[in-house]
Amino acid sequence: MLVSAKEMLDKAKAGHYAVGQFNINNLEWTKAVLQAAEEKKSPVILGVSEGAGKYMTGYKTVVGMVNGMMEELGITVPVALHLDHGSYEGCKACIEAGFSSVMFDGSHYPIEENVAKTTELVAITKEKGMSIEAEVGSIGGEEDGVVGKGECADPKECKAIADLGVDMLAAGIGNIHGKYPANWEGLSFETLDAVQQLTGTMPLVLHGGTGIPADMIKKAITLGVAKINVNTECQLSFADATRKYIEAGKDLEGKGFDPRKLLAPGTEAIKATVIEKMELFGSIGKAE
Ligand code: 13P
Repeated sequence: MLVSAKEMLDKAKAGHYAVGQFNINNLEWTKAVLQAAEEKKSPVILGVSEGAGKYMTGYKTVVGMVNGMMEELGITVPVALHLDHGSYEGCKACIEAGFSSVMFDGSHYPIEENVAKTTELVAITKEKGMSIEAEVGSIGGEEDGVVGKGECADPKECKAIADLGVDMLAAGIGNIHGKYPANWEGLSFETLDAVQQLTGTMPLVLHGGTGIPADMIKKAITLGVAKINVNTECQLSFADATRKYIEAGKDLEGKGFDPRKLLAPGTEAIKATVIEKMELFGSIGKAE
């Protein structure tokens, strides 16, 4: 059964590790992430962007697939199904469809409107036993065609949004989605520290997990990050393994064109990337 992300993240924050949010795109992605989590006894969050939701034909399909797969695979570790960077309407649709967690990305609204909409969504999610993530300070990079620059959040705004009753808070600390450019200045630990000082036990979320060096990830965890989002890195692993399969001409040998064979190396590669991240984040064995 899907669970809210609250309990697993409160435990992670108190235990000084982070739970990975791995974005899913299709059945193979979902299977790879769930199998990795079960094998390594790690809690996990499946992230679904609005674009990925549409790609999978809608949120109800996603909920049906994930619930069915958890049952058939005998998944025992805590799993949250979370809307990533949701609009106000997207959050409502996912709450209806049976997600267990949503992110309301109100960072592009003026702070007053972000507060009003977040307050309403906090009340609805609380009533349903779901968790909710909010974002302050836009997180740059490209996601679903929306490009922004890596900004640093205002710690006071973070405190104001945290006080609305959200379960986890994404604060921009110079992180961006996708690959980091060569001239990236790194994470702003000064901002992260200031945010944690004001928000206390609130689990903080680090978006744009792809390509952040291991030492920065570890430091971010010591400063209160309890959820780390990874998307692009699984896509790169999948594409690389699939390319190798095709370039080696394996699709031309026997029944190598069968999708169950053709997609297998990419699926295994996603699983390996997820396990590597779980090791780095320290979540392995935390669901035992
Ligand atoms: P990356 O694609 O950079 O790993 O970012 C993922 C993310 O933050 C999803 O919200």
